[in-house]
Amino acid sequence: MKRYYTTDEWSVIEEGFDPTFQEASESIFSLGNGHMGQRANFEENYSGESLQGTYIAGIYYPDKTRVGWWKNGYPEYFAKVLNAPNWIGIAVRAGNEDLDLHTCKVLSFRRELNMKHGYLERSFIAELKSGRQLQVNTRRFLSLAADEIGAIRYSVRSVNFEGTLELLPYLDANVVNRDANYDEKFWEILETGFKADNAFLRMRTRKSGFEVCYSMNCTAEINGTANKAKMQPVQRSGYAGFKIETGINASDEVVLYKYVAVLTSLDHKPDSLVDISIDTLMQASGRRFDGLFADHAVQWDEKWSHSNIVIKGDPEAQQGIRFNIFQLNQTYTGRDQRLNIGPKGFTGEKYGGSTYWDTEAFLIPFYLSTEPDHVSRNLLLYRYKHLDKAIENATKLGFNQGAALYPMVTMNGEECHNEWEITFEEIHRNGAIAYAIYNYVKYTGEKEYLAQYGLEVLIALSRFWRQRVNWSDVKGKYVILGVTGPNEYENNVNNNWYTNRMASWTLRYTLESLDYVMREHPMQYQQLVNKTGFRYDAETSAWNDIIKNLYLPLLEERGIFLQQDGFMDKEQRMVSELSPAERPINQHWSWDRILRSVFLKQADVLQGIFFFEDEFTTDTIRRNFDFYEPRTVHESSLSACIHSILANRIGEVEKAYELYLRTSRLDLDDYNKEVAEGLHITSMGGTWMSIVIGFGGLRIKEGMLSFTPNLPRKWKYLSFIVNFRGRVLNIGISEKETEVKLLKGDTLQVEVNGKIVNCKL
Ligand code: BGC
Repeated sequence: MKRYYTTDEWSVIEEGFDPTFQEASESIFSLGNGHMGQRANFEENYSGESLQGTYIAGIYYPDKTRVGWWKNGYPEYFAKVLNAPNWIGIAVRAGNEDLDLHTCKVLSFRRELNMKHGYLERSFIAELKSGRQLQVNTRRFLSLAADEIGAIRYSVRSVNFEGTLELLPYLDANVVNRDANYDEKFWEILETGFKADNAFLRMRTRKSGFEVCYSMNCTAEINGTANKAKMQPVQRSGYAGFKIETGINASDEVVLYKYVAVLTSLDHKPDSLVDISIDTLMQASGRRFDGLFADHAVQWDEKWSHSNIVIKGDPEAQQGIRFNIFQLNQTYTGRDQRLNIGPKGFTGEKYGGSTYWDTEAFLIPFYLSTEPDHVSRNLLLYRYKHLDKAIENATKLGFNQGAALYPMVTMNGEECHNEWEITFEEIHRNGAIAYAIYNYVKYTGEKEYLAQYGLEVLIALSRFWRQRVNWSDVKGKYVILGVTGPNEYENNVNNNWYTNRMASWTLRYTLESLDYVMREHPMQYQQLVNKTGFRYDAETSAWNDIIKNLYLPLLEERGIFLQQDGFMDKEQRMVSELSPAERPINQHWSWDRILRSVFLKQADVLQGIFFFEDEFTTDTIRRNFDFYEPRTVHESSLSACIHSILANRIGEVEKAYELYLRTSRLDLDDYNKEVAEGLHITSMGGTWMSIVIGFGGLRIKEGMLSFTPNLPRKWKYLSFIVNFRGRVLNIGISEKETEVKLLKGDTLQVEVNGKIVNCKL
């Protein structure tokens, strides 16, 4: 396969400039630091195809819903992550000509995303229409050490040009979203100005009322000495910059340093935003570019020290996993319980930047194993804090007595998805939220979480399931009708095995958690009863009855769990029968044809088997895998990872490897031809799982870490780092042995291939 980006273990590199890849590269080379993110747009003007993208965590716009046929229960708005004002811009003019890579000749071009230390570099030589040649070298980063700061070093060297070079670093709030329902302007400009040597912009988001302040400070050097020439302020509405004009000769070099602070009213009082922003900026620019960068690089070293994965013998796989880990670490740092992770993170507008079940089902394990516990705990608390809204949401749909339905898509706890088959039917998301609580408690051992927060959520979820089932006289069982499972290629189905399984498991786990909290934390239990009006006898006996009598569809003769009622009535075809010209089917087939087909978008029954694998024998897992995988088109980015893990579980390591490459290089190799829209950030958690849980075989068995590794043929060595209950461990796997090394923390026993091993410092 011809790859566009050069394979390198710590970097992604683009050699040569192909404008048809520009939007894809803007996604691939994105930077972020948890507080904000930036697509790899060029600093200088670019008139070719480009998706300008600057995103600030937690800043969104409630874009009025647009639907063809309104249904009661639809939300009023779809939250949109905002393309925020441009902070990277530096216009360059040589004589009377603009530097624009779309209109000039690009004689050489190289772009590198350095994942080890989190920066983006670009170097090129451009020939303008007049024949003037400029060589440009840039580096930029979003500081991980001071997350409100971004910095750029932009150097321009004249190759053959003599005359006036003009650099114009600026801030610009005149930006739009590509994805906007009514082409509205989302930003209101409040102030544009200069204070001391700094430029600033203050703006407010319309409707949602978030205030944001940018401030900018610049310095320039000519041939290594500070430029004394005055920077002339340039200002118009929503735009503030400095013009630097200098006469240069061939081989002179001008270096511009641009520092920007990005502050929001989520973290600061609106009326002091400008002052605090300028203080923050002054502190940062005082460190100078190199000092700021050194602080930033230390933070990246620290991150990698507890999240790195090494694969020997397979550079593509190595680059793939580092890219995934790097992007996850750029997107969420766990510092704020109000923040979460959108499917595209900070790399595009699609999916509105909102939270989906992806967080609970695909991301929690990554943050649990690679970060201190508070990071995943904050993701859980995000949902805990939205419990009232989830109860309100369920009430709006006709449920009562404290039943909660969490939104399918949300920013602040309110549902903002507006397709009935998803909003009202994809209720399995409630199950993932319960499962994340279980996962957290199982991994960290922090059972008290249940008493403090977890049980309250579980009770509300169980109340929902109780009201969502109904008794079927025909089946003599409880049933759950009219749902969409994880497989969104069919809607409004009855008794989706996965949804039913999640429902009955949630009821069981709630009962177990109740038991624990009543016994160990009676005071908190009493407070919970007072708060929720919980009626132990009535509610638990109803839940027990559902657990005993909930219908779970089976295809007995084949020994498999059945996707949903009537699944076998479909024409049973295999994905291998589809021609390449029909793939992906969501771009080539009518929706009607997809709905009637047998083809699955992503793991559904298999998603349930993945969650509860302890409850099934290997034979059962194999039978289900062999049945469903050949019917799965993997057109959700969340699909290949789960299949890879299960393939490993049944000993099909090479199949697991093939699926691993697909998940880990999904964006780098642009499998689905859509990377221009942004990266698949949430599926990256799945990629991590397919290594650590899949090939590494990590499990938690009765509170003990356990590993049963299995490497694909190509890999000579695999190592990964996990955090576990205050320890940091490195697991090194070669063909001959598996070595578990304790890097930090108290002595610990772990299980390796069935044997207990003592790990000491
Ligand atoms: C998947 C969902 C997922 C969403 C956001 C869809 O394509 O089918 O399961 O939640 O993308 O990632």
